[in-house]
Amino acid sequence: MSNTQFRPMTTIKGKTIVLTGASRGIGAFIARELAKKQATVICVSRSQSGLERICSEIDDLGGKGIGVIFDVSKVERMPELMYEIKQLTGSFNVDILVNNAGIEIYRSFQNYSLKDIQLVLSVNLIAAIELTRLVLPNMLNKGSGHIVNIASFSTQKGHPYDSVYSASKAGLLMWADALRDELAPTDIIVSNICPGYSQRGLFADNNMSAAQVTEASSTPQNVATAVYQAIENNGNQMVVNDNFFTRNMTKLKFAVEQFLPNFGDADNQITDENNLNKRPNQSQQNSKEKLVINETD
Ligand SMILES: NC(=O)c1ccc[n+]([C@@H]2O[C@H](COP(=O)([O-])OP(=O)(O)OC[C@H]3O[C@@H](n4cnc5c(N)ncnc54)[C@H](OP(=O)(O)O)[C@@H]3O)[C@@H](O)[C@H]2O)c1
Repeated sequence: MSNTQFRPMTTIKGKTIVLTGASRGIGAFIARELAKKQATVICVSRSQSGLERICSEIDDLGGKGIGVIFDVSKVERMPELMYEIKQLTGSFNVDILVNNAGIEIYRSFQNYSLKDIQLVLSVNLIAAIELTRLVLPNMLNKGSGHIVNIASFSTQKGHPYDSVYSASKAGLLMWADALRDELAPTDIIVSNICPGYSQRGLFADNNMSAAQVTEASSTPQNVATAVYQAIENNGNQMVVNDNFFTRNMTKLKFAVEQFLPNFGDADNQITDENNLNKRPNQSQQNSKEKLVINETD
């Protein structure tokens, strides 16, 4: 049994938190929650305007927002990010790392290029692993720290036409699960948040309504709440859903799928997940900035 279960609550106030993917979507909701708890939030994303906006919101909400423009897909350049954080904060003292940045490329698997595959795996998986590898020694030295990973329901059941994303999130969860146990004798906690389809962010950008898959939906606020609860309560793996009933039904569904994998396939057919994920999104076809990329792009 891990000793993390017996640790006292962690206070977020005054902590220095690195949050990737903070410029919009779920990351912005997480940033606001952490700001309300009076944390210093180092927001990492590529969009300068998005970072300026969220940092100003963080300041207004009682926290301190610091924006760092960085493309996390450039995993070999992560030490430069660490150096910049050190320059901006005066010291290198990250208390909490939230690995949230993520992208999806919706595509029939045979139509992925190697570049697509490498991009999704770099942003969603390798960046989180590498950033953690770089912040961990300092956390171990000072004897405290927390790593929070934003995973997905696709860690439990693969999403058709989103296979590389599913692989990245399943990999993220298993890596983090192993790391949590590895770090159990220390005072470093690893938490994994598994949201369902959200009304904002990647899923909504793909013109899908979470109402179409209500049993698997989470609001971005639910996700943000789960993040600070995971930090405060040293949470392990948290399935995020709209309410108590749907959350537990979702957990039950995942458990049944472990026993009966065919049940999961049948559920994807019944909820029409194949067609949902295949659907082209007209609004994206002219946008080069969108990160959710459909087959038609
Ligand atoms: N929305 C959902 O339905 C849903 C469901 C389950 C899990 N999730 C997970 O939740 C997390 C957030 O998703 P979201 O829906 O909020 O997505 P989103 O609205 O598309 O936002 C993605 C965030 O990641 C940043 N980002 C993307 N690529 C980046 C890169 N190369 N370097 C630095 N930052 C990068 C973006 O900032 P810039 O563009 O400014 O770089 C943005 O802040 C992801 O890990 C996603 O897998 C989402």
